[in-house]
Amino acid sequence: MFAPDTLKNRVAFITGGAGDIGFEIAQTYGRLGARVVIASRNQTRLEEALSTLQQQGIEAAAIATDVRDADQVKRAIDQTVGRFGALDILVNNAAGNFHCPTAGLTPNGWKTVIDIDLNGTFYGCLAAYEHLKRSAHGGSIISIITMLGLTGWPGAAHAAAAKAGILSLSRTLAVEWGGDGIRVNTISPGPIGDTEGAKRMYLDTGRGDLERRKTALNRFGAKADVAHAAVYLASDMAGYVTGDNLVVDGGRWLKYVAA
Ligand code: HXC
Repeated sequence: MFAPDTLKNRVAFITGGAGDIGFEIAQTYGRLGARVVIASRNQTRLEEALSTLQQQGIEAAAIATDVRDADQVKRAIDQTVGRFGALDILVNNAAGNFHCPTAGLTPNGWKTVIDIDLNGTFYGCLAAYEHLKRSAHGGSIISIITMLGLTGWPGAAHAAAAKAGILSLSRTLAVEWGGDGIRVNTISPGPIGDTEGAKRMYLDTGRGDLERRKTALNRFGAKADVAHAAVYLASDMAGYVTGDNLVVDGGRWLKYVAA
C-alpha cells in the first residue's frame, strides 16, 4: 500500500481520464493526494467521472478534449495550470483501437488511430513541457502503451505502430528533457479485464480464453494493477527512473501459446 500522501500537492493531467484505465489512474492518484484533471472527448462520460471523483473528496476538474487536436490539448493543459497552479504529472492514456486485418484497413482507419495514440501523445508532451519543467517535484510523463507494439499485433497494425512510436518518443524525451528534471516513462499493460480495449480486441473477437492463456499468470489483470504502476512512476520512489517501460502484463510477452 502507498502512503496516503504519496502524491500530495501534485497536479496530474490524464488523457482518456473518464474511462477504464485512465479513470482508475485518476481515482488512485486522487486518493493519494493529487489534484487531477481528466480529459476525454465525451462530455457525458466526463461529467459522470468528475462527479464520482468529487464524491470521494478528490479535488478534480474535467476538460472536454480531443487529443487529435493539438490546440485543444494545449488549451486543456494551460487551463489545468490556470486552475491548480502547476502541472507535475502528464498521463498519456487516451487510445483508439479496433480489430481489422491490415489488408482491409483504410488509410483513414490507420490515420485515425495514429492520430489518437501517437500524435495525441506528442501533443500532450509538447504542451506540458514548459509546465513540467517548473514542477516543484520534477515533472513526470507516463504513457500507456503495450508490448504488442514491439512484437507486432496482427489485426491491429495501426495501434501497434503507434505504441511503438510512443515508446521511441518517450526514450528520446527521457534524454532530451532529463536535464529539465522531467522523467519520461511508459507502462505496458497486458489484457486488463473490464475495459473497452479488452472487450473490442479480445472478447468481441472470441479470443478471451486464448488471451488469458497467453499470460504466464493465466489471468487477466485489473485496472488497479496499471494504476499502481502509474503511482510508482509518478512518485518520488521512482525519482531515478526514466526512459523505462514498466511491463504489467502477467508475463504475457514472455510466453507463447499457439493460436
Ligand atoms: C475497420 C474501422 C473500424 C473497424 C473504424 N474504422 N472502426 N475500420 N474496422 N471496426 C475506420 C472507419 O471506417 C474510418 O475510415 C476510420 O476508421 C475512422 O472511423 P470513425 O468512426 O470516423 O472515427 P471516430 O469516430 O473518430 O472513432 C475513432 C475510433 C473509435 C478509434 C475508430 O473506435 C473510437 O472512438 N475508439 C475510442 C475508444 C477505443 O477505441 N478504446 C479502446 C482503446 S484500448 P474510412 O476510411 O471509412 O473513413 C487500446 C488498447 C487495447 O487501444 C488493449 C487490448 C486489450
